[in-house]
Amino acid sequence: MKRIAVLSSGGDAPGMNAAIRAVVRSGIYNDLTVFGVFRGYEGLINGEVTKLEKSDVANIIHKGGTILKTARSEDFRTKEGRQKAFEFLEAFEIDGLVVIGGNGTYTGAKYLTEEHNINVVGLPGTIDNDIYGTDYTIGFDTAINTAIEAVDKIRDTADSHTRLFFIEVMGRHSGYIALHTGIGSGSTTIFLPETDNNIDSFMDNLRKANRRNKLFNLVIVAEGNKNGNAIELAQIVKKEFPEIDAKATVIGHLQRGGSPTASDRILSSRLGYYAVEALINKKSNCAIGIVNNQVHYTSFEDAITKKKDPEAEMIKMAEILSL
Ligand code: F6P
Repeated sequence: MKRIAVLSSGGDAPGMNAAIRAVVRSGIYNDLTVFGVFRGYEGLINGEVTKLEKSDVANIIHKGGTILKTARSEDFRTKEGRQKAFEFLEAFEIDGLVVIGGNGTYTGAKYLTEEHNINVVGLPGTIDNDIYGTDYTIGFDTAINTAIEAVDKIRDTADSHTRLFFIEVMGRHSGYIALHTGIGSGSTTIFLPETDNNIDSFMDNLRKANRRNKLFNLVIVAEGNKNGNAIELAQIVKKEFPEIDAKATVIGHLQRGGSPTASDRILSSRLGYYAVEALINKKSNCAIGIVNNQVHYTSFEDAITKKKDPEAEMIKMAEILSL
């Protein structure tokens, strides 16, 4: 292993820069030449590749987003697209690649290694925390801190006006952000894509809360909730309880930006360091994670196909604590 490259792909996540920095510096420490690929797989197909020095990654550990930019590449889903990407890797004599991203990124990496026999390792970069083979993903901690801060602010106005707020957080297929935001902000109810949230029982609880004069003001809704988004749920409530002043707020892409938390910076640094160690030790076709504070390797196949869902006990606990 002499020359390696790093790219970020899919949705950006705070901490990606810390991971890129760790790959570059660990690589150079191990006498490797390190390249950065811009705009993910799209950039690899177009040969947007630059050599990175230690100084190129100075002053980025605290920055959100990704200095390498990112993209969701349609072309890389095709064999022809991956062939072009491989040709650029060959032209630059790159024999190891670190990809940082989520499920789509890992799927692309799996095809690339299998079709072209190149060493590729993946780092879990997504705010959604829905990657199998790691306890936490890069960006998740920052995203939930951002969401909790937003909910705390909404709580002030919800409380002052005695209003009910449905607050939508990200997570198209995953309820991790919603669950952790709900627990951390002390919300009354959490709607997750993984559970069969029954709107009737929610209405029933609302009725009971009304009778008990219990403050029922903060409901967290995951983007991928099956029986309605925040706006739709607020409308359902307004229709049945016109006296309840129900509002909806979508936090949206705010959750994807901002300076990474300490946890994300440290997680990302560790993952970047382990990625280089893995390539040097000829590991390939695998995703790197941290499980129980230890480095953990998972085949891309398992990381893609096995689902990591929020723990049932956490869901139960959230319900108990909001009674
Ligand atoms: O990064 C993951 C994620 O934030 C999902 O939770 C969300 O559904 C999606 O990305 C949004 O992606 P985009 O910014 O491409 O619309």
